[in-house]
Amino acid sequence: MRIEIHPVPPQERKAKPQPSELGFGQHFTDHMFIMDYIHNKGWHKARIVPYQAITLDPAALILHYAQAVFEGLKAYHGEDGQIRLFRPDMNARRLNASAERLCMPTIDPGFFIHAVKALVDLERDWVPRAQGASLYIRPTMIATEPALGVRPALEYLFFIITSPVGAYYKEGFNPVKIMVTDRYVRAVPGGIGYTKAAANYAASLKAAQEAQAQGYSQVLWLDARERRFVEEVGTMNIFFHFKDALVTPALSGSILPGVTRDSVIQLAREWDLEAQERPITIEEVIEGLEEGRLLEVFGTGTAAVISPVGVLHYKERDYTINQGETGPLARRFFEEITGIQYGTRPDTRGWTVTVE
Ligand code: COI
Repeated sequence: MRIEIHPVPPQERKAKPQPSELGFGQHFTDHMFIMDYIHNKGWHKARIVPYQAITLDPAALILHYAQAVFEGLKAYHGEDGQIRLFRPDMNARRLNASAERLCMPTIDPGFFIHAVKALVDLERDWVPRAQGASLYIRPTMIATEPALGVRPALEYLFFIITSPVGAYYKEGFNPVKIMVTDRYVRAVPGGIGYTKAAANYAASLKAAQEAQAQGYSQVLWLDARERRFVEEVGTMNIFFHFKDALVTPALSGSILPGVTRDSVIQLAREWDLEAQERPITIEEVIEGLEEGRLLEVFGTGTAAVISPVGVLHYKERDYTINQGETGPLARRFFEEITGIQYGTRPDTRGWTVTVE
């Protein structure tokens, strides 16, 4: 399918934010990608247009029954002037896995990457050059058909917006404080926890708000059945570096299969670290901390990259990890992964895709 391009005239383009103003997802670029889907016709009318509001019928199914899925990836401005994407094939596949679970149409992965590249190419001046900054890319699919019956929609919109960003957490690469909740759950077995459904994020807000009111950045979720097995943070997957192994919860169906998570596991194995994907209880984590066997905890995510955890709060107690400092393993992953993303370290695994 051809992508029609309707560029914004140069004199009408927006002013770009200063590096210090970036934050996360607060500024949007000049253009967006958009295409339509109708049952029996498939995806059509792929176009890049000026960034603009979309109009929806008040009966659009997205507004009533939450058929919405999204992705998150970034474009990085290398010191060599190249703009790179990191493993966009994984985002394409995960988008389709999410869409299938919510009875939404899939998108050809090759076309998905083509659309991302076409948009980023047009917005290349928006990819920040400041250290640690990037252009966050948010592909999103929503059900647009006006109807009130509870059933899969017959019409959809897929769009991609982009936003120049700095660090996701105000702490940057410094350790964050995380609250373990055994009061709320994010996802249940058989549910949609492994998808990037918008509804998963709505389900997480209450616990995050309560945690933030007590001074914690985010929530660490436990499993819905026993409230013992560690799952994820919601905006990132979680890793525990014990003296003898690096452990992360196995993909049980209620955890998001993160791109950075997968990259950390692959790198750990190449570095001859024992990387285990398995069920891990919060008791094992706390015991490891109390006995000095748990050296580091860190989260992984596209938005968060590698985010060291300095404090875990569980059952009225704060447990400090690595004296609240960023640990050497988190730093090593951070440097390797960002090095590949920004082109300062060799990409020997074919993880990056250049936008040209
Ligand atoms: C990401 O890491 O890209 C995410 O989607 C997490 C969050 C900002 C929703």
